[in-house]
Amino acid sequence: MKKLAILLLIALSASLGWAETAENAETRDIALPVPAKSGGLPLADALAARATHREFSAEALSAQTLSDLLWAANGFNRPEARKRTAPTAINRQEVDLYVCLADGAYLYDAAENMLRHVADGDLRGLTGRQGPGNFALTAPVALIYVVDFERQAMQDRPNDALRYAAVDCGFIGQNVYLYCAANGLSTVFLGSLDPAGLSRALGLPTTCVPLFAQTVGKPAE
Ligand SMILES: Cc1cc2nc3c(=O)[nH]c(=O)nc-3n(C[C@H](O)[C@H](O)[C@H](O)COP(=O)(O)O)c2cc1C
Repeated sequence: MKKLAILLLIALSASLGWAETAENAETRDIALPVPAKSGGLPLADALAARATHREFSAEALSAQTLSDLLWAANGFNRPEARKRTAPTAINRQEVDLYVCLADGAYLYDAAENMLRHVADGDLRGLTGRQGPGNFALTAPVALIYVVDFERQAMQDRPNDALRYAAVDCGFIGQNVYLYCAANGLSTVFLGSLDPAGLSRALGLPTTCVPLFAQTVGKPAE
């Protein structure tokens, strides 16, 4: 009986793709599979399909899909130059992507292709409109766009800081929209989130601000 349960568990994790990932028991960091960087609809078809969807299946994304999604969002596409799939003003790369799953929150470490565990518990409900019926609690993934204003500091042009930070988040958001459109996933970019609650839960320094969020999951059946 015990043997059967173990076999079922292995089969289930393999079907989700998580078998390829290594979780460090001490730190709870997760090593993601190598991003595929291929597949999905051609760009013109993805643009034609790009849309906001707010109804999600609760089914988890496979580790491979999560890795591919995060690489598309803000991975290094020119690692030798340390440059990414999304542009940033003055190449400050000031937007960190936090990934909230049902069991905890992680920082996407694009250089190492890892999810760095930063908090226990389910923070997805701190995104989207608060209260019952919040679709962010159904979808398996809530991405949080956290801007480090210290990294992005515009010494001589302080008014540009927020302008640039917002547009830099928008580029990542559009990458996510296009990846989802190309790969049959649903997504919604969110201005509604609880920045103070997220800052507390993620243990962010005061220079870092959660500006936007984005819900991602499979479409509702
Ligand atoms: C900056 C920004 C903030 C948004 N905030 C929310 C939000 O808080 N809640 C929500 O349901 N949709 C939000 N959206 C999604 C828009 O409502 C959606 O993009 C718009 O209705 C157009 O639909 P489309 O994306 O399908 O073209 C946001 C979009 C952007 C660009």
